[in-house]
Amino acid sequence: MPKVFNWQLNREMEYPYEESRPDKQFAAVFNINRCIGCQTCSMADKNTWTFSKGQEYMWWNNVETKPYGGYPQHWDVKLLQMLGPGQWGNGSYHGKTIFEAPIPDDEAVLQPERVLGYLPTDEEYRFPNIYEDTPTGDWTKTTELPEHKLWMFYLQRICNHCTYPGCLAACPRKAIYKREEDGVVLVDQKRCRGYRKCVQACPYKKAMYRANSKVTEKCVACYPRLEKGVAPRCVVACVGKIRLQGWLHTQEKAEPDNPMDYLVHVAKVALPLYPQFGTEPNVYYIPPRWAPRPFLRQLFGPGVDEAIKKYTDPDETLFGLLRLFGTTESIIRRFLVEKQEATGYNEDGDEIIKMPFDEPMYIRPAYDPQFQIERFNEP
Ligand code: SF4
Ligand code: SF4
Ligand code: F3S
Repeated sequence: MPKVFNWQLNREMEYPYEESRPDKQFAAVFNINRCIGCQTCSMADKNTWTFSKGQEYMWWNNVETKPYGGYPQHWDVKLLQMLGPGQWGNGSYHGKTIFEAPIPDDEAVLQPERVLGYLPTDEEYRFPNIYEDTPTGDWTKTTELPEHKLWMFYLQRICNHCTYPGCLAACPRKAIYKREEDGVVLVDQKRCRGYRKCVQACPYKKAMYRANSKVTEKCVACYPRLEKGVAPRCVVACVGKIRLQGWLHTQEKAEPDNPMDYLVHVAKVALPLYPQFGTEPNVYYIPPRWAPRPFLRQLFGPGVDEAIKKYTDPDETLFGLLRLFGTTESIIRRFLVEKQEATGYNEDGDEIIKMPFDEPMYIRPAYDPQFQIERFNEP
C-alpha cells in the first residue's frame, strides 16, 4: 500500500491511493460553543437535498448531543472499540488508523476489505436525535468554568470531505471521487452499484445507502453554490452563526489572511474530529469550553487545551475573525482585522462584509403618544 502524509497525525500512514491534494480544499469550522441545537442546519439541508422518497432517514447534516447521542447510534464508540487503544505522544499519533488496523476474519469472508469499519443496522438510523439534551455527570455540583460537572454539548456533523476518504478507498467500483478543484468528495451515481463498502468504511457514517434507488448518496458540500462563491445551505442557514466555510491549504502553503488557514494552522483554535481515524477530515471544531478535557481530547486530539485557551482569551485577529462567522452568504477568501473592525473579501478581492467589534447603539426617543400616532398615520 502507498504511504501518504497525514498532517493531523504528523506521520506517514498507509492508504490505498497515492497522496494527491487539491490546490484548495473545501473546509469548514464549526464553533461548538455557540451552537444552540436548533437543527435549522439539519432542516435546511434536508429541504435542499434529501426530501424525496427513500431518503426519509437520510440526514446529511445532523446535530447530536454528546456524550450519548449519535446518528447512526453509537457510530463513534463502535469504531473506537474496533480500532483499539492508541496514544498521542511527541507530537504524533501512535496507533492504527482505519487503513492500517487488521480486519477481523469474519468481515473478510467474501472479499478482502481495505478499510476497518462496520455497516450500521437500519435500527441504528431510526432516531437521529436520540438522547437530545441529555447531560452526564454530577447533578449535585454547581456549574462553573473551567469544566462543568454536569455537562453535554451539541456536535454538528456533515461529511468531512476528507483528504483520505475511507468511502473512496473502499469502493470496489471506484465510484467515489474527490474533485481536483476543491477537494469535494462525490459519489458517481452512474458507477455506483450499491455495494455499500463506502457506508461500511466511512468512519463518520456520512455515506448513506438509499434503498429505493439502490445507490449511495452523501453530502455534496452544496457544490453548485460553491461554484458561484456561495457557502453551503447548512452554513448560511445557521441561526447561532457558529459556522464558517472556506478553503484550506496545507500547513506549508497556509495563508495567514485566509480564514480557514488562520483558524486551523495559525491560531490552531479549530481541530479535526477523531483525527486518529486517519482520513484527515476537513471539518474543524472549536471545542466546547465547559466539557471535560479527557473526553474532548479523545474527540479532537491533543490540541484541545491550547485551542480552548486561545478561544477563551482571543487576540484581536481571532476576535475579529470570530465576528465574521455567519455574517455573509459569500465565501470569505481573505480577511483583515484592524481598528476594531473585521473585513471579509471574496475571491476577486472585493469587500463583502465589514463587522465592527462594537455594534452601534441606537437610543429610541422617550415614549411620546403623539409621536406614535403620527408614525402610525404615515402613508
Ligand atoms: Fe467519505 Fe465519510 Fe470522509 Fe465524507 S466523512 S469523505 S463520506 S469518509
Ligand atoms: Fe447539506 Fe450542503 Fe451542508 Fe452538505 S454542505 S450537509 S449538502 S447543506
Ligand atoms: Fe461503491 Fe459505495 Fe456504490 S462501495 S458501488 S459507492 S455503494
